[in-house]
Amino acid sequence: MSGAPGDDTVAPPRPLAGRRIVLGVTGSIAAYRAFEIARRLQEAGATVDVALTPNASRFAPAFTFRNLVGGVVSDDLWTTAEDPELHVALGRRADALLIAPASATTIAKLAQGIGDNLPTLTALATRAPVAVAPAMDSAMFAHPAVQANLETLKARGVMIVGPERGRLASGQVGLGRLSEPADVVGATRALLGRHDGALRGRHVLVTAGGTREAIDPVRYVGNRSSGRMGFALAEAARDRGAAVTLVGTQAPPPGLYGVIVERVESAEEMRTAVARRREGIDALIMAAAVADYRPAEAAAEKIKKAGADAAPVLTLEQTTDIVAEASGRFIKVGFAAETEDLLANAAKKLSAKGLDLIVANDVRSEGSGFGSETNQVTLLAPGEEPAALPLLHKYDVACAVLDRVAACLEARAR
Ligand code: CTP
Repeated sequence: MSGAPGDDTVAPPRPLAGRRIVLGVTGSIAAYRAFEIARRLQEAGATVDVALTPNASRFAPAFTFRNLVGGVVSDDLWTTAEDPELHVALGRRADALLIAPASATTIAKLAQGIGDNLPTLTALATRAPVAVAPAMDSAMFAHPAVQANLETLKARGVMIVGPERGRLASGQVGLGRLSEPADVVGATRALLGRHDGALRGRHVLVTAGGTREAIDPVRYVGNRSSGRMGFALAEAARDRGAAVTLVGTQAPPPGLYGVIVERVESAEEMRTAVARRREGIDALIMAAAVADYRPAEAAAEKIKKAGADAAPVLTLEQTTDIVAEASGRFIKVGFAAETEDLLANAAKKLSAKGLDLIVANDVRSEGSGFGSETNQVTLLAPGEEPAALPLLHKYDVACAVLDRVAACLEARAR
């Protein structure tokens, strides 16, 4: 949390609003982590139904889920008096089925089409996309039977999330740990995007964060960009079904599941990475705050303090403009972070850099710009009236930008 003025007054994003998700929970020591998954899905705006196997409810009781989610919670096929075909009802109205954690036994049942409890019957009854997050001991996970079952599921279009390497219930470290709840939720968003998102089948390249230009091995010339706007754009593109690559200077936040991340430091490294990854993309979104100038020479050793009369003088040289030099059939989106003459400066950059869209923001206005969770921007496109958006969470700004990108791509395809 940055504590910036807009942060607590602007509604948090609800990327799963309007979605109904069945969370299937199976018998694994990791079942307690499904509480957090359920909570995160609910916070993201989804209506969450929870279907537990009888074994799961020994680890994570239905009662607790009832306090976390607003949908149906059931661990019993036989006491669903109000709806004797609950699995059919759950499956039919689901937008996605997420089984997390998925035990080896449940994975085997799913592969074979066996339905003998609420999650596995729902899996048979639904036509919604399915994601499965395995959690088990590493020896079990490595077993050829489990691997073959996972391959069967993958071939059927099921998304497999994780598992991760880490400490297991046995106390040993190995591959079998349930993926982090933020990643499981990120994967569910990607699953839904790939199913019906406006950018499915598209490839989006996003840059994020401020570049660092070396003065010597320990010092750099930098700027205040946090990378948040770029991360939000990567998320929003992923949520619309795009394959997303992010070239950024900061470590990505949790939950950026499915996004390929390349870390860079300087403007030149970012330029090289963008040039290498530009092939075949549908959109380039330059949210990074790229240095316009860098030290003409970086000292090989740390510069030593040599007294007030010997203060070093930095000679700077211009960097190459990455977005201006990038040409191709893709949509080009730039950002204009300004402290004065916002629209005039942004309009100049729009045409000078050959952009299809520019996102102009006054980095001095309350709740906007560097480090904030929120942003107030104006969108400018060639030949169109500027469109000022209200102060929004950066994810919602990203959604508005991606909706414009999707519309542009669709218009081009016509
Ligand atoms: N940009 C870029 N390569 C650079 C500098 C900027 O690709 N070397 C991109 C930014 O990522 C952004 C857009 O150009 O999308 C505008 O960046 P900004 O810093 O606002 O504009 P500049 O052209 O650098 O102009 P000024 O600093 O004078 O405002």
